[in-house]
Amino acid sequence: MVIHKCTAFINKLKRIWPTNRVKILFIILIFLSSLYIIGHFRYIVMSKQGEIEEDPFTQASNLMSKYTKLPNPNWQKWTTSNITNFYLYRAFLDNRTSVTNAPVIRVLLMKNNYKETALNYFCHIIFDDNVSITKPVSKLEQLSYMYRDFPGLQGFLLTCELGVKYKDKHPKSVSISESITENEQAQNRLKIEYNLKNPATAKENFALCLKGLRFPDNDISSYLVEWFELLFLMGVNKIFVYVFEVHPNIYKVLRYYEGRNQIEIIPFSYPNHVYINKVQGEKIHYTDCFYKNMNFYKYIAIFDYDEIIIPKHDYTWLDMMNRLLTTLPNETSYSDYRFRRYMSMKNMQVEIPKLPTTKDDVKLLYETRSTLDKGVKSIVDTETVSGLSNHFPTICTSDVCHPYDVDLSIGFAVHYRNTCLRGRDDLCSNKTIIRDIPIHRYSDRLMENVMRTLNSIPNYELSLEKV
Ligand SMILES: *[C@@H]1O[C@H](CO)[C@@H](O)[C@H](O)[C@H]1NC(C)=O
Ligand SMILES: *[C@@H]1O[C@H](CO)[C@@H](O)[C@H](O)[C@H]1NC(C)=O
Ligand SMILES: *[C@@H]1O[C@H](CO)[C@@H](O)[C@H](O)[C@H]1NC(C)=O
Ligand SMILES: *[C@@H]1O[C@H](CO)[C@@H](O)[C@H](O)[C@H]1NC(C)=O
Ligand SMILES: *[C@@H]1O[C@H](CO)[C@@H](O)[C@H](O)[C@H]1NC(C)=O
Repeated sequence: MVIHKCTAFINKLKRIWPTNRVKILFIILIFLSSLYIIGHFRYIVMSKQGEIEEDPFTQASNLMSKYTKLPNPNWQKWTTSNITNFYLYRAFLDNRTSVTNAPVIRVLLMKNNYKETALNYFCHIIFDDNVSITKPVSKLEQLSYMYRDFPGLQGFLLTCELGVKYKDKHPKSVSISESITENEQAQNRLKIEYNLKNPATAKENFALCLKGLRFPDNDISSYLVEWFELLFLMGVNKIFVYVFEVHPNIYKVLRYYEGRNQIEIIPFSYPNHVYINKVQGEKIHYTDCFYKNMNFYKYIAIFDYDEIIIPKHDYTWLDMMNRLLTTLPNETSYSDYRFRRYMSMKNMQVEIPKLPTTKDDVKLLYETRSTLDKGVKSIVDTETVSGLSNHFPTICTSDVCHPYDVDLSIGFAVHYRNTCLRGRDDLCSNKTIIRDIPIHRYSDRLMENVMRTLNSIPNYELSLEKV
């Protein structure tokens, strides 16, 4: 039977083979395949010579890439002899008392070959009196706690220890290389940021770091005003906003608060031509924001724009933290305080007063929440943390971080969403929702402040419909 079918098929082939159309098609097919094979071979050769940015591993995922391709002054690229591509972002001096062998230089970077965390690299540091020294890299630590083996670029923190001998010197710039003597040929050089606080002034209480906003078309400006104003009512001193690209209305809002020194805008884009996993990039926002601010604020909160931490009994975060600290053992110092998280969603929301937020956006003033969703959000202590992931610190100045799980009687986080978590409808059914987000106490002042702000932003026209 099978043999019969095969012979029939071969006979059929013999009949159509001589036709010109089939011959031409066949020749075109062979031509295209050889182009592909030659191209692929050339790719391998070029990447061996370091002419191609991605390794084949990241190249495979490149099709999924969506990031901007504009020239990017944010990152300095450096390719090692192992074709590891480093994209260096910022360098900081870290002279905190909890840091081993302080002062140290921290370099925030993204790189491929996440498996390669070898320490065969060197920091060449130049001080402001032009004296230069070379120190081995003492740590190369991955920032993420999840998707750590995801291909493409991952966020890392590189550390070089200067040690007590250099405690009073002012390092000016650093370059990283593979050779102990490569100073002159170094392919990169970063200015070192200091951010040392005036010892005479006390630290402020709360900075909030908001990961990169990418809302070119969707005007969520009035929602953001509501969110910012609520955070300011809770006592957040300043919000640091990373911006990819935003709707003109959002930009007007950010500029307005920037003028009042309540917000700092940090323009951001990813390195070029390499596959980036968005979740990996966010670690760069949070950790950069941390190093900029660790000497100026006692606490740093790391948030997305649809989340908030709500004190159970207190009006401000400071009162909430003070209430919390009195319950803690005196001798322990914690890296961060983790607040358990609820969700609040459209279909279960009972709106309190009507705010002029855009029609389809998440609103904050609802009085219902889901059951706990297992997530946490951290308020980070700035003394002992050295690297951050999306929800909590991942690297600390001691070998492990010491988080404290905050009791629900002190405060909790709420994640405002349009829909329930996938596959977790049980969290969000009418049976399980709880009607007590204690947010009413803010509503009058919040309304007032939102309206005042919306009316004060120059040339701002509220768009009530989603664009
Ligand atoms: C290159 O990578 C290999 C294996 O990952 C490692 O053993 C070697 O030390 C690396 N060489 C350099 C110069 O980084
Ligand atoms: C350090 O070197 C730069 C460039 O060569 C020079 O402009 C500067 O005056 C030098 N500074 C000191 C303190 O020697
Ligand atoms: C670093 O801290 C030490 C004390 O811990 C201090 O003596 C030194 O001046 C600081 N260095 C800088 C550059 O501020
Ligand atoms: C911590 O110390 C203060 C005084 O130094 C004391 O009033 C407080 O009760 C102590 N807290 C705990 C939890 O032991
Ligand atoms: C919950 O109840 C409200 C009215 O009480 C209803 O409008 C809504 O559709 C219900 N939601 C779900 C998810 O069942």
